[in-house]
Amino acid sequence: MSTTLTTADQVYPKVAHVIPSIEWVTMADDVEAILRLKQERNAVILGHNYMSPEIYYGVSDIVGDSLALAREATEVEADVIVLAGVHFMAETAKLLNPSKTVLIPDLRSGCSLAESITAEDVRELRRLHPGVPVVTYVNTSAAVKAESDICCTSGNAVAVIESLGVPRVIMIPDQYLAANVARQTGVEVITHPGACEVHERFTGADIRQVRLDYPGVSVLAHPECPPEVVDEADFAGSTAQMQQFVETRRPTRVALITECSMSDNLAAANPDLEFVRACNLCPHMKRNTLAAIRHALETMTHEVTVDPEVAVRARLAVDRMLQVGTAR
Ligand code: 13P
Ligand code: SF4
Repeated sequence: MSTTLTTADQVYPKVAHVIPSIEWVTMADDVEAILRLKQERNAVILGHNYMSPEIYYGVSDIVGDSLALAREATEVEADVIVLAGVHFMAETAKLLNPSKTVLIPDLRSGCSLAESITAEDVRELRRLHPGVPVVTYVNTSAAVKAESDICCTSGNAVAVIESLGVPRVIMIPDQYLAANVARQTGVEVITHPGACEVHERFTGADIRQVRLDYPGVSVLAHPECPPEVVDEADFAGSTAQMQQFVETRRPTRVALITECSMSDNLAAANPDLEFVRACNLCPHMKRNTLAAIRHALETMTHEVTVDPEVAVRARLAVDRMLQVGTAR
């Protein structure tokens, strides 16, 4: 008797290390449906590194950090982009592809950083500090980007600041990323009291405890963590830079001080490495589920649009960032 492998069966080996087969059975129907709908709609799925493994390995066409997703969004040929991530990422994809339909599976996928600042806040900072360039983290609304000179991500923040060749910048809205970058570049940074609700929760004491509990562990932290956490870590970088560290240095025991799905996705591909799960979940990223992605493609919702006048100005700031070169 011959058995025919379904597409979901073919995907399973990629996630077998982190998803038990009895759980995969409950996911397979949605995975099959999404793969079929992608073809019918001529759609691609861009998945952030914080997507859970069934989305990251099961249905995404392109995966990466915020910088990679922005870069890849400029290359997309499909008619429809489903952004499996958060709202600001979908807006960035739309800015870069005004003629394409950009969908987000759940409109509530926000970000504490994006919500911490408005366009008027940026105009006020400019009034307070005339002539000082505004560097805006991509984790912001299009309206905030539109008030900015240049954007950055955690993967290229140092390169972006250094590209400006000035002694002082306004870097918004993440106070911790700004403080970490100021220390690395020696540039004076004026910032804003925003923070990532996932990364601000880690403390230096947490890292010291992880080292006590797991001798020999390599600690990798995201630069949205407070400087005292970055000080205790062996390496700090964007999600893609952490992935690169793991893949090239292959630490036998590693703790990723960031969102939990990072460890799951790297553990799936590196079953020989031990991942210490000292992580926090991002509730916004976790609104992306297989069911929500399937629904997005079935109903062509929720479409993300950006006011064209805002989009033109925001795109300038994103394009300037993309010209600065990559960190990988
Ligand atoms: P990166 O993937 O760019 O490191 O960003 C992390 C993040 O928190 C995105 O919301
Ligand atoms: Fe925003 Fe932090 Fe969630 Fe990233 S992890 S989307 S920065 S709240």
